[in-house]
Amino acid sequence: MSLSNFKLIKLPKILDERGNLSFIEENTHIPFTIKRAYWIYDVPGGEVRGGHSYFKNQEFIIAISGSFDVIVDDGNVKQTFSLNRSYYGLYIPNGIWRHMENFSTNSLAFVVASENYSAKDYEYNYVDFKKNK
Ligand code: TYD
Repeated sequence: MSLSNFKLIKLPKILDERGNLSFIEENTHIPFTIKRAYWIYDVPGGEVRGGHSYFKNQEFIIAISGSFDVIVDDGNVKQTFSLNRSYYGLYIPNGIWRHMENFSTNSLAFVVASENYSAKDYEYNYVDFKKNK
């Protein structure tokens, strides 16, 4: 697994004086079929979300509002992506350790996922995660 699998993807942006519009379509702008969407909001200052990898689930994360950092780690190299535009999203394949931090006030993280929620799909042990790399 190499960092080249991460991808910051620029989404369509339909400029309009009435307000701009962006969108995603499964298997077009992101390389998977969407089974689930969730969002993270009302994050108190200084809090951190995530801190795990998924065995199977792939995700695409958009800062719909505000900003936050997503730190991804393939077991060898870590990279920080600062998301602060609603027409960019970060694609994260399965098998990548990731966490989110530095949330701005009123930020909204919107995530689309390739799998339904399953507690069994989570790897919370970083040592075990590294062992499988
Ligand atoms: P979790 O994925 O651990 O959040 P984060 O990685 O951002 O810290 O999820 C927190 C809780 O929410 C956990 O009890 C599982 C539940 N949850 C669902 O029920 N469905 C979902 O789609 C997600 C993402 C979480």
